[in-house]
Amino acid sequence: MKVTVVGAGAVGASCAEYIAIKNFASEVVLVDIKEGFAEGKAMDLMQCASLNGFDTQIAGSTNDYSKTAGSDVAVITSGIPRKPGMTREELIGINAGIVKEVAANLIKHSPNVILIVVSNPMDTMAYLAHKVTGLPKHRIIGMGGALDSARFKYRLAEALNCPASDVDGMVIAAHSDTGMVPLIDKATRNGVKVSQFLSEERMNKVVEDTKVGGATLTGLLGTSAWYAPGAAVSEIVRAIAQDSKKMIPCSVMLEGEYGQNDICLGAPCIIGKNGIEEIVKIDLTDAEKANIEASAEAVRKVNALLAGAVA
Ligand code: LAC
Repeated sequence: MKVTVVGAGAVGASCAEYIAIKNFASEVVLVDIKEGFAEGKAMDLMQCASLNGFDTQIAGSTNDYSKTAGSDVAVITSGIPRKPGMTREELIGINAGIVKEVAANLIKHSPNVILIVVSNPMDTMAYLAHKVTGLPKHRIIGMGGALDSARFKYRLAEALNCPASDVDGMVIAAHSDTGMVPLIDKATRNGVKVSQFLSEERMNKVVEDTKVGGATLTGLLGTSAWYAPGAAVSEIVRAIAQDSKKMIPCSVMLEGEYGQNDICLGAPCIIGKNGIEEIVKIDLTDAEKANIEASAEAVRKVNALLAGAVA
């Protein structure tokens, strides 16, 4: 499998690193607009090959998309990250133009590519990718839910004082501080609902800490996070490479599912060699349904700001 990662900043480099370390792809191409930067990151990563035991070939390119030709998957991380105090939505003006151009360049050289959108505001950027490329919905995957679910499991494990491998749970709806819907009532520790171990108050805290997971890190780091975003992307790419049919919450174009239309929003998806192979419908409580509706409304307001970029 050949994977392109556009943007060799912290998130893009982390994607390339985790993809290489997991050793399922033959080739990763890193692309950046800054002269020599992607080449440098690629060389640094390749010097890890003998140390970390991977065979993936990593190459860098300064904005030359011909090097990305024939990619099976392309990850779009380009754009500006958020600074402390900024919401993901505030990035839209700059990032919309970048994502539009990057998506067009990728498809020109890899007409069959599956796109994974990471740039923020992620649900709106995935929606923009649909509108400007016209790709079928199974070939555009927004990364947010995979990351948010990992952060949810981290917070659950913290509350339960157990390893993250003991817990299971999903976050659906928007990848935003107010729009995420962590499915706490369905979360389990080894198949047992977490409500058997945690008070209502503690569960509420898990939910709130999960929703501001990205903002908390932005406050600490001065820019947005990269390790967990990179790891989340690498798991989606691996599910495609291995055709594993893994269920991963991803932002996907909804056509009636969850009562929504013409919007990219996080929902549980089956990921395989074709990208999103199924949107899984799950039973939701009335509160979860109301939260998804509110989340979708907020994303629609941000999508409305795209008018100029989509035209
Ligand atoms: C975050 C960014 C990647 O949540 O959206 O860390």
